[in-house]
Amino acid sequence: MAILVAGGCGYIGSHVCKMLSKRGYDVIVADNLSHGYAENAKWGRLEQADIGDRAALDRVFAANKIDAVMHFCAYIEVGESAAEPSKYYRNNVANTLVLLDAMMNAGVDKFIFSSTAAVYGVPQRTPIEEDDPKNPINPYGRTKYMVEQILGDYGTAYGLKSIAFRYFNAAGADPDTEIGEAHIPETHLIPLVLDAALGLRDSIKIYGTDYKTPDGTCLRDYVHVNDLADAHIRGLEYLLKGGNSSCFNLGSGRGFSVREIIDTVAKVTGKPVKAEETPRRAGDPDILVAKSAKAFDVLGWKPVIGLDEIVATAWKWHKKYKKAG
Ligand code: UFG
Repeated sequence: MAILVAGGCGYIGSHVCKMLSKRGYDVIVADNLSHGYAENAKWGRLEQADIGDRAALDRVFAANKIDAVMHFCAYIEVGESAAEPSKYYRNNVANTLVLLDAMMNAGVDKFIFSSTAAVYGVPQRTPIEEDDPKNPINPYGRTKYMVEQILGDYGTAYGLKSIAFRYFNAAGADPDTEIGEAHIPETHLIPLVLDAALGLRDSIKIYGTDYKTPDGTCLRDYVHVNDLADAHIRGLEYLLKGGNSSCFNLGSGRGFSVREIIDTVAKVTGKPVKAEETPRRAGDPDILVAKSAKAFDVLGWKPVIGLDEIVATAWKWHKKYKKAG
């Protein structure tokens, strides 16, 4: 069984490739290496191809008997999406259409899509359920929600079977330290706090201390990247067994504040981090916590890796990666 992993050289995609390979799947990675790293393609053959390049995709589909596609090649920075919407709609929406059309042309009808909690915008209740209103508040979230709707239309018209996974805060790293989170530039909380613990920055900024939360800082639902990877394989197997198209929240159901993350990093690394309180960052809802009961009921998925281990695995990899430069 061969799976094409578009964006398999990136953070989440590479962890999924490793798990797919361990569970006996053949992996073919398609990545343009704009943000991913060629050395992350350790568990499948790398085809250096852009998902917006139809001719390149046609060659990949012609050369390999592919049973399903997983798609991880999106731009993910909320602030950048507001400043450069064209870049986001072109890559995250238009290029996804090119990939879907190449799949349809090749007769591949199973698709797993990385969506996001950002489709909900500012949630009306917590924890968030899949049927809650989708009101994305930035172009990034809108691109993901547009693709979700496109998947529905492709299902109706062309028989595409798809799963959209709405990730909450992906975090942590491969416990064997072969791969981890290395965004350039880094904007995510846990790697930034780890940079401070490593002495690579003097302090960490807390964006806003006047949120409606117990300690005034934002609450987020952190989920280990290997728990996400496990959900992808369960989703794939559900589709292979004839399951219907669907979307699922992927989160732990528990929110941690920015201060709790900083404290957890201090506890796990033994290195206290200086925190500087600053005004809010634009577009951050007070609380984003998932109800993932649907993923449990339909896929049997439950995250098993808690916050301490998320931080510990990220720390182990972070030290190795940052030391190596
Ligand atoms: N934060 C800080 N200081 C920092 C960085 C982040 O206080 O230096 C805070 C943020 O304000 C937020 C929390 O830490 O409250 C988490 O921030 P991240 O940037 O790590 O993650 P986000 O929750 O903003 O983003 C995640 C995904 C996005 C996705 C979004 C969905 O990384 O891709 O969830 O809402 F769009």
